[in-house]
Amino acid sequence: MSEASPDIKGIRKAAAIIKEGGIVVFPTETVYGIGANAFDGNACLRIFELKGREQDNPLIVHVSSINMAEKVAVIPKMYKKILGNVWPAPLTVILKARKGIPKSVTAGLRTVAVRMPDNKIALRLIEESGTPIAAPSANISKRPSSTRASHAIKYFYGKADAIIDAGSSRFGIESTVIDLDNFELLRPGAFSVDGIEKLFGRKLKIYGTQEKRGYVAKPKSPGMKYMHYAPLTPIFLFNGDIRSIGNATKPYAGRFIFIGSDESCKIAKRYAKDTIGIGRREDVDVIAHNLFDALIRLDGKTSEFAVIECFGEEGIGLALMNRIRKACSYKSFTDADSLIKLVG
Ligand code: TXA
Ligand code: MG
Repeated sequence: MSEASPDIKGIRKAAAIIKEGGIVVFPTETVYGIGANAFDGNACLRIFELKGREQDNPLIVHVSSINMAEKVAVIPKMYKKILGNVWPAPLTVILKARKGIPKSVTAGLRTVAVRMPDNKIALRLIEESGTPIAAPSANISKRPSSTRASHAIKYFYGKADAIIDAGSSRFGIESTVIDLDNFELLRPGAFSVDGIEKLFGRKLKIYGTQEKRGYVAKPKSPGMKYMHYAPLTPIFLFNGDIRSIGNATKPYAGRFIFIGSDESCKIAKRYAKDTIGIGRREDVDVIAHNLFDALIRLDGKTSEFAVIECFGEEGIGLALMNRIRKACSYKSFTDADSLIKLVG
C-alpha cells in the first residue's frame, strides 16, 4: 500500500494484532518501525528479543494526537502548543513518563521518548489500535535501519506478526531526539537543528565534538553508547580530498567497494572493485535518503572492506554524518598509511 492509497482493511488487521499484544512492522516518514502496544510490557519485551536489542535502550512511543501523548508523558504547558503545531513531524521529545508505561519501554528511566510520525498509515494504525505504539527502528540491533519494506521483510519476515509494505520511507533517516528539560540534542535526525531552534526560539545544546558527535564517555541517551548501523562488511570513512582517493587506497586497488556521491563514484570507480552511488553531491536529502539502503546493499556484494566519503554537516548533513561515522565505528583515514592501519 502507499500513503496515497492506504489499504484500510489491512491497517485494521494490523491494529487488531497490536490490540492482541502482537508485533507489527509499519512505515513512518523516517524509517520503518517495529511496534507493539506501548502499555503492554510483555509485547514490548518481545520487540527487544526480535531485534536482539539491549534492554537498557528505551523505545520511542508513537502517538496520533496530543491527547494520546498526554496519556504517556507529562507535557509542560509551554511546550504543548508548540508540539501541537509541529507534530506530526520527525521530532522526538524526551518527557517525564506517566505511571503505567512499562519498564521495557522506558528501560526503567523516569522519562519517555514520544513522537507523532508524519505518515498517514502510521497515524491510522495508531488510531485504529486505540493505543500508543512503542517502536524502535525495524532493524536487527546494530544493523542499518530499514528505509524500505524490503529491508524490514529481510530482517523480520516470519518473526513479526505483520509487516505493512508501503515502499520506501520519505526521509530515510531517523527522527531527531531532543531532551526538553536541558534543551539538548540527543540524536541528530530528519528534523534540522535550525528548524528546532526556530520552532522553540532557543539555542539547542549540542554534545560532543565535530568528529565524534553523539559519542560521549557518559551517554545522555542510552542509544548513544551502542554500535550502530554497521554493515557486516567493515567500512571506513575517507576524510581526504576525493581527487586523492586513488593514492589513499593504492595498496588495495580493485579490492574495496566505494560508497559516495555520483560525482565521487565516477572518480573512485577506477580504483575500486565496485561503487554504490547514493545521489548527486548537492542533493544532500537524496544522499541521506539512500544511505541505509546502500549499507544494506553493500552486504549483498563481496569485498574485503568498503570506503565511504565525507559530506558537509549543514542541515540534514549533521544526521547523515552522524550515521556514517557510527556505521564506520568512527574509523577514518586520509592516506594509504592510515588505511593500512585500519585494514591490517
Ligand atoms: O525515526 C525514528 O525515530 C524511528 C521511527 C521508527 O520512529 N525510531 C527510532 O527508534 O529510531 P530507535 O529505538 O532506533 O531509537 C530511539 C532513540 C535511541 O537512541 C534511544 O536511546 C533514545 O531514542 N531514547 C528513547 N527513550 C529515551 C529516553 N527516555 N531518554 C533518552 N533517550 C531515549
Ligand atoms: Mg535504531
